[in-house]
Amino acid sequence: MRIVRSIAELREARASLGRLAFVPTMGNLHAGHVSLMHRGREHAPHVAVSIFVNRLQFAPHEDFDCYPRTFEADCETLRAAGVDLLFAPDEQVLYPQAQSVRVEPSALAAELEGQVRPRFFHGVSTVVLKLFNCMQAEVAVFGKKDYQQLMVIQQMVTQFDLPIEIIAGETARETDGLAMSSRNQYLSAAERVHAAQLYRTLCVARDAAQTHALALQHIEAQAMQALNTQGWTADYVSIRRQADLMAPASNDQALVILAAARLGTTRLIDNLEFHRTSRVA
Ligand code: PAF
Repeated sequence: MRIVRSIAELREARASLGRLAFVPTMGNLHAGHVSLMHRGREHAPHVAVSIFVNRLQFAPHEDFDCYPRTFEADCETLRAAGVDLLFAPDEQVLYPQAQSVRVEPSALAAELEGQVRPRFFHGVSTVVLKLFNCMQAEVAVFGKKDYQQLMVIQQMVTQFDLPIEIIAGETARETDGLAMSSRNQYLSAAERVHAAQLYRTLCVARDAAQTHALALQHIEAQAMQALNTQGWTADYVSIRRQADLMAPASNDQALVILAAARLGTTRLIDNLEFHRTSRVA
């Protein structure tokens, strides 16, 4: 695996590779990231990864400074995964001057995560556009774990006519259902035991929504209450349609339930896609 730090080195290394799949990351790699790399390999003979903890997507009170940085272990993971190229710029490379030109993402960025993290998707979209320009890959893989991020990036690619295809990777889960995330390591041992409640609550809500037995708003409220009574602080539980994450119309069948909640000081997100059958008249 070739490791490059500058944009000039990246351009030179990229030129010698053919069709390329790109997986942008903030490092601290786990099996979920590796599954995205394997997904990339299904679409291109070469896979490139970036590791960059992007200050622009963190609010001042968030965990930018303590975000886990595990570069050596990450390199081992990438080598074992057969990754060809790693772009690991520092801030001076990607933001040599204050990044005053920013991407204004679609209105979707103001919903769900955007309600709690108002500038998050501006920061994500800006760095992803820069990384796409640097990497010049044919394909990029984003995990469904960050479902809204995947959608915001897809909308940016569509509206800016970016010459890159976005591929979605399935969420990797621990054996108890907890979605894999770098932030899981912030959980105490006791919190880790409870953390799979988020997934289980989504499963219960999904099952209820599939049957049409209850109004979706009622199911969302029940799920919020279930989390809050188990000691979580839920930011949202919301059922949206998969196509654009807008509120579902009565005939929408492809839906996704998304949630964000804090357990202690750790904020986790998760989601489940599902299909509901047509309502029986
Ligand atoms: O999902 C992430 O790890 C980050 O948001 C991304 C896409 C690498 C941008 O910094």
